[in-house]
Amino acid sequence: MKAIVYAEYGPPDVLHLKEVDKPVPKDDEVLVKVYAASVNAADWRMMRADPFLARFYGGLLKPTRFQILGTDIAGRVEAVGRNVRQFQAGDEVFGNTFKSDFGGFAEYKCARENELVSKPAKMSFEEAAAVPLAAMTALHGLRDKGQLQPGQTVLINGASGGVGTFAVQLAKYFGAEVTAVCSTGKVDMARSLGADHVIDYTQEDFTRSGRQYDLILAVNGFHSIFDYRRALSPRGIYVMAGGNTAQLFQALLLGPLISMAGSKKMIDLTWTPNQKDLLLLKELLESGKIKPVIDRCYPLSEVPAAIRYVEAGHAQGKVVITVGQDNR
Ligand SMILES: NC(=O)c1ccc[n+]([C@@H]2O[C@H](COP(=O)([O-])OP(=O)(O)OC[C@H]3O[C@@H](n4cnc5c(N)ncnc54)[C@H](OP(=O)(O)O)[C@@H]3O)[C@@H](O)[C@H]2O)c1
Repeated sequence: MKAIVYAEYGPPDVLHLKEVDKPVPKDDEVLVKVYAASVNAADWRMMRADPFLARFYGGLLKPTRFQILGTDIAGRVEAVGRNVRQFQAGDEVFGNTFKSDFGGFAEYKCARENELVSKPAKMSFEEAAAVPLAAMTALHGLRDKGQLQPGQTVLINGASGGVGTFAVQLAKYFGAEVTAVCSTGKVDMARSLGADHVIDYTQEDFTRSGRQYDLILAVNGFHSIFDYRRALSPRGIYVMAGGNTAQLFQALLLGPLISMAGSKKMIDLTWTPNQKDLLLLKELLESGKIKPVIDRCYPLSEVPAAIRYVEAGHAQGKVVITVGQDNR
């Protein structure tokens, strides 16, 4: 099968389209013919081993744990292992393959059955592949770490990207009053997703406006942890989904200290994907409560360009890889 393979850490030039062995499903695995995959920050972070800690997961000197990136897939089940109960050949599925070591930028991927759910019939494979990691991150950040309640005020910083576009919609679903922070060209899109208020970060610094929020979900650091603390209401919660190494250490080391010293909570978002939440997202997609925003699609051979685009940090929603267009 064709796959995008990398054998060393570095920029997108380390990614190459190659012919590799088609995987064979183990007893508890499903072999999926991949029709679409989506790009996440996790892909370029593992590609570059950035932050350095990624090497303890992927391989110290070079990527040894896996050589094919891509954690979000949608496609058709081609074969199942003997212990698989939930799926059979021909089923249309989507899911997140983080636990089975990435591997989505390929024509076939073996996944555990609990990493997948059936694809909503009305959604395209591209739309389905855009959902799992970004939407589950937003869900965990708002509901589990953020403990969001109806009527609370929530600010999403980085509202126009992969995680942020789902976070705005999910926060509205949970009944919150939502403020989205994004750049000028994406203000209308943020409003169309349901944001009650939109702040253009090129015009206004929300951390200096004097307004305070019950929950702030920052998809990237962008500000210091002290700026975020200032913008939190007295019992507010700040959840940081990602950031550079310095921001991560700030959240990990200073976050617990600030939380202990006062009533405001500063939390780093760590979680693992699970099928129950994927099923909830599937229901929300089917009922039209949430929808993926797709910026653009690239063919499998252009994964390096797709990752370069996402890494630049200004995608509008998700970037999708179209894998096999024949015989769908
Ligand atoms: N903890 C987890 O489990 C987990 C899971 C998934 C992702 N993440 C992390 O979450 C982060 C975001 O992921 P993503 O997929 O949403 O990335 P993304 O699609 O690249 O989105 C980033 C967004 O940030 C916005 N942005 C850039 N500069 C900004 C600024 N100064 N102020 C406010 N917004 C700004 C951009 O919007 P404009 O174009 O409008 O500037 C862009 O839409 C990454 O760091 C990733 O590692 C964490």
